[in-house]
Amino acid sequence: MIIAIDGPAASGKGTIARQLAAVYGLHHLDTGLLYRAVAKAVLDAGYSPDNVEQATAAAVALDPKKFDDKALKLQAITEASSVVAAIPQVRQALMNYQREFATRPPGAVLDGRDIGTVIAPGADVKLFVVATPEVRAARRLLELKARGEEADEKEILADLLRRDERDSRRTAAPLKAAPDAHLLDTTHLGIDAAFRAALDIIEAVRAGRKRR
Ligand code: CDP
Repeated sequence: MIIAIDGPAASGKGTIARQLAAVYGLHHLDTGLLYRAVAKAVLDAGYSPDNVEQATAAAVALDPKKFDDKALKLQAITEASSVVAAIPQVRQALMNYQREFATRPPGAVLDGRDIGTVIAPGADVKLFVVATPEVRAARRLLELKARGEEADEKEILADLLRRDERDSRRTAAPLKAAPDAHLLDTTHLGIDAAFRAALDIIEAVRAGRKRR
């Protein structure tokens, strides 16, 4: 089983994806970490994130086994990750790893921006998770504070909106719902309710398949 979960920044996709993977015994890949790792490598080497040559080389050299998730989640890398993610050569370099990951038995949950549209268009279930920008900013603020990062809610909101715009407008694999994705609005849902809503959608899809 392959479950594709896409949506804008801080919409809750990652939490839902982790919980679904645990319940169904599937692998989980937070594909945002790949773009964050490329951004970190480019910044660490002293280059600008829109440097196509450097970003592409970093994407080709990436080793996801060596990821330090905590360092990659730092707000300082977040903006740059959406800049490298708009570079088609970077996306191309990261494609095989994601596709192979998706087909590892017994299956996987992948979350990102283009999973249902580009990486796994044949996924068994596709969710597109959304929430209002204000709710997403409030959640991200809590997340950053819990990790001990200083953060300002207004700046976080501005970052989310800027990234959503960049991610949606780029020509290479823009952020958008696949035509067959199920929309899940988590604006008024807590973590447990959002997870249950996702589970309900997946179980309904599976039950529908069995009946056919
Ligand atoms: O956690 P958050 O939703 O804020 O971001 P993320 O999922 O870690 O993704 C960081 C950035 O990577 C996004 O703003 C996108 O530009 C890019 N990304 C992408 O282009 N495609 C994906 N499949 C996943 C992330």
